[in-house]
Amino acid sequence: MSALVTRDFDSLVVDRVDEGRFSVHRDAMRDPEIFELEMRYIFEGTWIFLGLASQAPNAHDYFTGWIGRHPVVVSRGADGTLHALLNTCRHRGARVCQHAQGNAKYHVCAYHGWAYDSTGRSVYIKDRKEGCYSDAFDAEDHGLVRVPRFEEYRGLLFGCLNPRVHSLEEHLGEARIFLDLVIDQSPRGVELVPGCSTYTYKANWKLQLENGLDGYHLTSTHPSFMRIVERRKSGESKNRLNALDFLLHEFRGGFTFDHGHAAVWSQNPTPEVRPLYPSLGELRARVGELRAEWMLNSRNLCLFPNVQFAENASLQLRTIRPLAVNLTEMKSWCLAPVGEPAEARELRLRQFEDFFNPSGLATPDDTTCYEDCQTGNGARIVEWQQGYARGMTSVRNGANEISESLGFRPATSQHGAYAIQDETVFHSAYREWLRLMKAGAARAAARPGEAA
Ligand code: FES
Ligand SMILES: [Fe+2]
Repeated sequence: MSALVTRDFDSLVVDRVDEGRFSVHRDAMRDPEIFELEMRYIFEGTWIFLGLASQAPNAHDYFTGWIGRHPVVVSRGADGTLHALLNTCRHRGARVCQHAQGNAKYHVCAYHGWAYDSTGRSVYIKDRKEGCYSDAFDAEDHGLVRVPRFEEYRGLLFGCLNPRVHSLEEHLGEARIFLDLVIDQSPRGVELVPGCSTYTYKANWKLQLENGLDGYHLTSTHPSFMRIVERRKSGESKNRLNALDFLLHEFRGGFTFDHGHAAVWSQNPTPEVRPLYPSLGELRARVGELRAEWMLNSRNLCLFPNVQFAENASLQLRTIRPLAVNLTEMKSWCLAPVGEPAEARELRLRQFEDFFNPSGLATPDDTTCYEDCQTGNGARIVEWQQGYARGMTSVRNGANEISESLGFRPATSQHGAYAIQDETVFHSAYREWLRLMKAGAARAAARPGEAA
């Protein structure tokens, strides 16, 4: 067994909530060796969000992505079936799709011309007859390798390289309610508004994972956004954009779920600023009063390890792709109900670009802080974070009255004043992190030759 496999992961997470202690060792944020193991045991060991089925609506449409270090293409065959394939030519490895998305009946490798159909089947090996190939070569399958597990939840596509992983349904578990609150915003579901913002930040991927649930940073990291909203309201600014005023929120809460997922929410005292608000009557009739009201609340859902649905200033889908221990690629899309009226779509886009992305008023504040954390975490003799303690004495195991009213069973529940700004919502991700790292190491020890 190599040293790379035998790291004592239990020494990196202190999980003794009954004693009031939960902490994460800073090596999890800064150690390149741990990063390598995260790629193998987490990103190549559990379910990874790939995209929406509606990104490839027609026969032969495709889009590309990643599962850990594995380039992937999701392609729709002639019969309408979706396929998740490893985007690497069987000949000598070149990617067969270089574009983010497109339509191609055949994928022809640019290097030596091997070709594959939209299901990944090998259809052409250039100059095969003249190639003096052996019987052993002819006996092999030359098609693109399939992602071992590929499943869908209501139009959301996930893949997994670990063939023995639990089902996607089990993976998502009770967190599905927060997906339903997004997907059910129109009878026809949600879609990505065309256009994707891609950017990198020079820090660990888990900083984004945490920040998606971090209510504590809002007033200290984003005061410029708060001031701009105030100036618009007072008439001091000529910009009349109706943006969510976070300072009006009074209550908030959070839930954690099995398999590392968590969600935070805050009640929205000004639901009329939402582009969804004019649809309230239709929503109430279709999903009921309570769920319709919840669709207008602010909700951030983090599905471990790589996707976040953030509905606060606007509705954003973002994916996290770790590139190195101190480098992360983000992709960000505006999500919208299918069939939304034009005025609502316009307001949605203006709110989206106001707050999110490198050109927005919030994202640069956040990524600057992540990079500063990465720099500060370079102080090697400081070992443990103190950032997982807020809310510890008010969180409870299992459901609370809010989850019961909505009909789901979280692992933990938290509810209280807006200022609690709970940090116990981070715990589930580190519990899953530890579980997967230990399970991956056990697999590697049992079968040293296997990839994950
Ligand atoms: S690498 Fe694709 S045909 Fe050679
Ligand atoms: Fe932020």
